[in-house]
Amino acid sequence: MRNDRAIPAGPALFLVIAAALAAMAGGMILADGGGVDGVRLAIRATARTSLALFLLAFTASAIFRLWPGSATRWLLANRRWFGLGFAFSHLVHAGAIFLLHRWHPDTFALLVQPKTFVTGGIAYLFIALLAATSFDRAVAALGPRNWKRVHTIGIWVIWISFIFTNGKRIPASAAYAIPVAILFAALALRLRAARRARHAAA
Ligand code: HEM
Repeated sequence: MRNDRAIPAGPALFLVIAAALAAMAGGMILADGGGVDGVRLAIRATARTSLALFLLAFTASAIFRLWPGSATRWLLANRRWFGLGFAFSHLVHAGAIFLLHRWHPDTFALLVQPKTFVTGGIAYLFIALLAATSFDRAVAALGPRNWKRVHTIGIWVIWISFIFTNGKRIPASAAYAIPVAILFAALALRLRAARRARHAAA
């Protein structure tokens, strides 16, 4: 028999994700004694964990609609906590960027162009908005229509941010085409699920 209590859910799931992310990034930075390589590794690793967590939240509903079952129901029921896990991962991304700025300003100046603060800042604004409005009280305060508007815009701003932040690195390494392809596959999945929902309603 499956022991459901062994699988974290709700706030406990978020705590597991947050603790794992903090341990991962902290470990990478400490293992290199605060050196530039460890800090850069933590920045890159958190960008990737952010993408994975974002994709789980982004596709949860579509996955459940296309493949209903207990595992996909668990994914859908915990979508909010994966979304908050994504926000936490990106908070750690920001923290590691801050450390790069403080400890290795020359490398920071080489890697971060001023325009990144505008594009990245807009994405961070939406990540903060989505995280702050992830709670039932915020849904009630905003009203379901406004809440939906904020979340729809925010989710697409973040999707586009991932396309650009990965896509701009493709000339340096073709491997960055993989996350871009995964992002488009996730989009295709959502479109397929939406089409199926329309057919079911017709
Ligand atoms: C002001 C905001 C931001 C700054 C200053 C920033 C800075 C950086 C830096 C310096 C790196 C490269 C680390 C290295 O090569 O050693 C990086 C990597 C990356 N960042 Fe950010 N970032 C910001 C916001 C964002 C946002 C909003 C996203 C996506 C939603 C994002 C996604 C990525 C990705 C995908 C990578 C590449 C990771 C990899 O190599 O696999 N960043 N960021």
